[in-house]
Amino acid sequence: MPHLFLIVGLPGAGKTTRAAALAVTHRALRLTPDEWMIALYDGVQPDGKRDLLEGRLIMVALQALHIGTNVVLDFGLWGRDERSALRWLAASVGASCTVVYLPVDEDVQRTRVAHRQATAPHTTFPMSDTDLITWRAQFQPPDTTELNESSPVPGPPPGWSSWPQWAAGRWPSLPPLGLPPLGRSDP
Ligand SMILES: Nc1ncnc2c1ncn2[C@@H]1O[C@H](COP(=O)(O)OP(=O)(O)OP(=O)(O)O)[C@@H](O)[C@H]1O
Ligand SMILES: [Mg+2]
Repeated sequence: MPHLFLIVGLPGAGKTTRAAALAVTHRALRLTPDEWMIALYDGVQPDGKRDLLEGRLIMVALQALHIGTNVVLDFGLWGRDERSALRWLAASVGASCTVVYLPVDEDVQRTRVAHRQATAPHTTFPMSDTDLITWRAQFQPPDTTELNESSPVPGPPPGWSSWPQWAAGRWPSLPPLGLPPLGRSDP
């Protein structure tokens, strides 16, 4: 059974480092949006483009899982609903899924982010101390139920009829009815 790893954590938590290691040990396709954003948009982040990019990377991930390839989604995934949607989508293509959570203390995070900015600025976006504080307040850490691979996926939030519909709202480049049949291209 193909496996999806969802890498969860704040900036500087060590997500991309862990994702790269998992990609090697599990022969998995690693999808890291920052690498694509930096390459495609020359180091800036135009409004809305990250969500569009992530949606297309999710489609790639689902197609890879569908043909039996393990995948590591190095997205950060701060929201519980994002993680639930992706767990549901993984199951819909016959894949198992693990939430890999990397907690990081504030001091360690600041030190790592500053060190990376100083030594490898081309691999990251600038982040201020205020950004880090704001983002930490927005982050929803996974609970023990979510971290248990065998826990059932909860239903979508009120007002949404399915996780694919919710996911198409969150990532507008995703089709609202789930993955189109393999091999079919858009008309
Ligand atoms: N376990 C670790 N111990 C010490 N340093 C680490 C560890 N994991 C990662 N680092 C270092 O911390 C910095 C941030 O790591 P990494 O880029 O993997 O974080 P990230 O979670 O992907 O951040 P972002 O969300 O900004 O992409 C890097 O310089 C990396 O070498
Ligand atoms: Mg990273």
